Amino acid sequence: MNVGIDKIGFFTPNYYVDMVDLARARNEDPNKYLIGIGQTNQAVIPPTQDSVTMAANAALQIIDDDNRSKISLIILGTESGVDNSKSGAIYLQNLLSLNKQARAFEIKQACYGATAGIQMAKDFVNLHPDQQALVVGSDVARYGINTPGEVTQGGGAVAMTIAADPQIMSISKNSSVYSDDIMDFWRPINQTNALVDGHYSNDIYQKFFNITIHDYLKENKLQLDDLKAIVFHLPYTKMGLKGLREILPELSDAKQADLLQEFEASRVYNKQVGNLYTGSLYLSLLSLLDNAIDLKVNDKVGIFSYGSGAQGEFYTGTLKSDFKNNLRKQHVESLLKQRKQLNVSQYEELFLRWPKIDAGDFVLDVTNDNAEVVFSGVSGSKRQYKIQR
Ligand code: COA
Repeated sequence: MNVGIDKIGFFTPNYYVDMVDLARARNEDPNKYLIGIGQTNQAVIPPTQDSVTMAANAALQIIDDDNRSKISLIILGTESGVDNSKSGAIYLQNLLSLNKQARAFEIKQACYGATAGIQMAKDFVNLHPDQQALVVGSDVARYGINTPGEVTQGGGAVAMTIAADPQIMSISKNSSVYSDDIMDFWRPINQTNALVDGHYSNDIYQKFFNITIHDYLKENKLQLDDLKAIVFHLPYTKMGLKGLREILPELSDAKQADLLQEFEASRVYNKQVGNLYTGSLYLSLLSLLDNAIDLKVNDKVGIFSYGSGAQGEFYTGTLKSDFKNNLRKQHVESLLKQRKQLNVSQYEELFLRWPKIDAGDFVLDVTNDNAEVVFSGVSGSKRQYKIQR
């Protein structure tokens, strides 16, 4: 039986900052950010959005009357969760009016959480083919103003339903995994900004990619040539390009050019949004599906997931009949196009308004947020979510 991604939806808030403006404000050559990092714009997350609201806004794109009754597993992968005990998945269940006869929980392992959720959901649907799972990767990526990581901030969510006989992509039965105790990126419990050893993280990412892809190909008796494209976890798009360059010398010139072309398609959206942490890999997959010009049904796509700390996993997907969907593509393009550009001081002002961990009770003005689901503040130490329609 085929099990995999049946529907995919994306959300990012309605503000961004241009990387040329940011480079100038930080006395850097814009080409460092545009080419060296591989980013053009960066999502700016207002205080009225968080990992729960963004997950709900992404999931609203794909939940309908048909799959709503079938979803009995709800998994939120996030590393910017809003509570140390209650999972964001329970908020999601309520905001989306999902089945109460469901398991709902959150997974944390840096940017790997959504992949852990997908693999668990795949096994669940294999056992219960009449049911579906909702898996969402949702995060706010914050490093801090004037830090080396600032250029790799961003935020947003990708929501996927996992089902039998999926319309978009079936997921391979096997995958290759590798993990180790690595301090390349972490966020202590009392902080809202991440700490990172970026160059070290990059080295570990390349190492885990090399180990897992070669292990996967060997175990499954496949060649690199069997992969039509490879999508990467993209905290910034240059990181995936560096991964791809690791394996290019093993290929003919023609195949190298093909994989590089598919890689360009796979980073169109990520370049405009920046880092989504858990959602980054799946935004790249969506970008490939929407922007590649020569993908066909039954093409095999390599998928490399990486979560600092660190966990790596490589698996493959096989494209199904409805992998291309013009309505979905139009929606993503209009979401990105309608965003308001902020100058650097406006971005800094919004960044600094992000609620502190010990802020207590407060009320947020949600009138400038046009998303369907918004965070309106904290009352009695309880987070308040609103649906605006
Ligand atoms: N034109 C083109 N490229 C330029 C350039 C210019 N004018 N100036 C610099 N570059 C290139 C550099 O050569 C380098 O390329 P390389 O990586 O291929 O060697 C790249 O731009 C970045 O420059 P670098 O000096 O390494 O940047 P940095 O020390 O400011 O750090 C990161 C960059 C990515 C390490 C930093 O932003 C970071 O730590 N981000 C967080 C990453 C993360 O989240 N990791 C964990 C999640 S997996």
